[in-house]
Amino acid sequence: MSIQSSNLVNAINEIIKNRRSIFPKEYTGKKLESSIIDALLQNANCAPNHKSNYPWRFIVIEGDKLNTWLDECAEIYLEETPSEKFNQEKLNKTLGYKQKISHAIAIVMHREENDKTILTEDICAVACAVQNIYLSLSAYPNAAGYWSTGLGTYSQRMRDFLYLDENDTLLGYFILGHVEQKRLEANKRDFHNFVRYL
Ligand SMILES: Cc1cc2nc3c(=O)[nH]c(=O)nc-3n(C[C@H](O)[C@H](O)[C@H](O)COP(=O)(O)O)c2cc1C
Repeated sequence: MSIQSSNLVNAINEIIKNRRSIFPKEYTGKKLESSIIDALLQNANCAPNHKSNYPWRFIVIEGDKLNTWLDECAEIYLEETPSEKFNQEKLNKTLGYKQKISHAIAIVMHREENDKTILTEDICAVACAVQNIYLSLSAYPNAAGYWSTGLGTYSQRMRDFLYLDENDTLLGYFILGHVEQKRLEANKRDFHNFVRYL
C-alpha cells in the first residue's frame, strides 16, 4: 500500500483519534488469545529508540500468575498504606481484577551500566513502545487496555516479585482485557492550546 494513499492517511488518523484507555470495570473476564499478546509486543518492539539500545523489557503476567500478582498488589497496598489513608474499596477493587483482567504486561526500562543514552531518552523510548501497544489494540475489536502506574509500581517488594535487577526500572503495567465493544468517545482538548510557533 502506498504511504500517500488517502485511505491509509484516514485510517491512521482514525486509529490515533479513537485510541482509548479502557479500564477493568469494562472487561468481560474472558481471556485474550496469546497471538494478540504476541502481536502487541512485536509492535512495541518496533518503537524508536536512541542508539538502537532497545531499553524496554516486558514481563507477561498471565494464567495463575495473574492471581498471585494481584494478591501481591493487595499485600503491598496493605503494607504500605498508612492507616488513615486505607481504603477498603480500593483493596476490593484490586482483588476484583482477578475476575476482569486477561493479561498484565509489566513495563520495564532496562539500562546497562555503560549505556550511552541519556535516562530521559530511554524513558521516552519505552513510552513510544507503550504507545505502539495502545495503537495496535485498534486491530482487535474485543481487546482493550490501559497503562497503569498503580498496582505496586513504585514498591521494592514488587521489584522483587518481578525479579528485577538494579538496571531495571518498573514504569507500570499495560493491563489488558476482553471487551464486548469499545468505547470510542473522546473528549480531547484542541491541539492549538499546546502549540506555539517561533
Ligand atoms: C504514564 C501513564 C500512566 C498512567 N497511569 C494510570 C493509572 O495508574 N491509572 C489509570 O486509571 N490510568 C492511568 N493512565 C491512563 C490515563 O488515565 C489515560 O491515558 C487518560 O485518562 C486519558 O484517556 P485516554 O488514554 O483514553 O485518552 C496512565 C497513562 C499514562 C500515559
